[in-house]
Amino acid sequence: MSSEKPLFIVLEGIDGSGKTTQAFRLERWFKRSGRKAYTTREPTDGIIGGIIRAALSTKLRISPMTLQILFAADRSEHVREMEERRASGYNVICDRYILSSVAYGMIDLDRDWLLRMNSPFPRPDLTIILDLPAETALRRVGKRFSKTLFERRSLLERVRENFLSLHNDLGNEYNTVVIDASRSPEEIHRDILEVLGDRLGLEI
Ligand code: ADP
Ligand code: TYD
Repeated sequence: MSSEKPLFIVLEGIDGSGKTTQAFRLERWFKRSGRKAYTTREPTDGIIGGIIRAALSTKLRISPMTLQILFAADRSEHVREMEERRASGYNVICDRYILSSVAYGMIDLDRDWLLRMNSPFPRPDLTIILDLPAETALRRVGKRFSKTLFERRSLLERVRENFLSLHNDLGNEYNTVVIDASRSPEEIHRDILEVLGDRLGLEI
């Protein structure tokens, strides 16, 4: 086990798809099985992540392009930190990464421009796309039905479709796998472990 190369695993999916829940379970599983693990997320808790959160909560009015440039700048710092962790033997689990930039960003911006901007960053060993209907995800995060919710639901439905088309087009490059996230947390976790065994050869 100690000869295993530390992995870089990314969780992707729409808001409320269960990324945080599964990242936590996966980290716990790594630790229980005697491996080192570190969970992190984007946007980060760093300075640039703080600006992004302020922008997302509409305290700042910035253009979609500026926002995605900020996500890339945040990632540029984050990548160094994640590389350091891996160099010290930690399996890194990251909640959102490049494909979030593309799936959300391509609602307003050119997909290829977003991919080019992100091209210098390392590719994950595995990108798990948690897939479920936007309505189910929104119900989980407890939003009540309203016009705003309707707009949000159709937007998230488009982001969901974007994730699926990125899986089709770039699956080999980003090592994507799509998991049905409309089921129980236990079933999803079990599927994730199966993928870790089958695709990454981990002893489960
Ligand atoms: P994300 O990080 O993708 O936004 P979370 O993991 O925070 O998603 O989950 C959103 C909400 O849904 C939380 O309240 C969480 O407890 C709940 N949840 C997570 N996974 C499931 C699941 N498989 N089934 C039902 N509820 C879930
Ligand atoms: P996050 O706080 O992770 O949302 P949640 O926990 O609800 O899933 O992400 C904030 C938002 O930023 C989310 O709607 C997705 C978006 N986003 C981008 O547009 N580009 C990016 O590169 C990233 C990492 C996130």
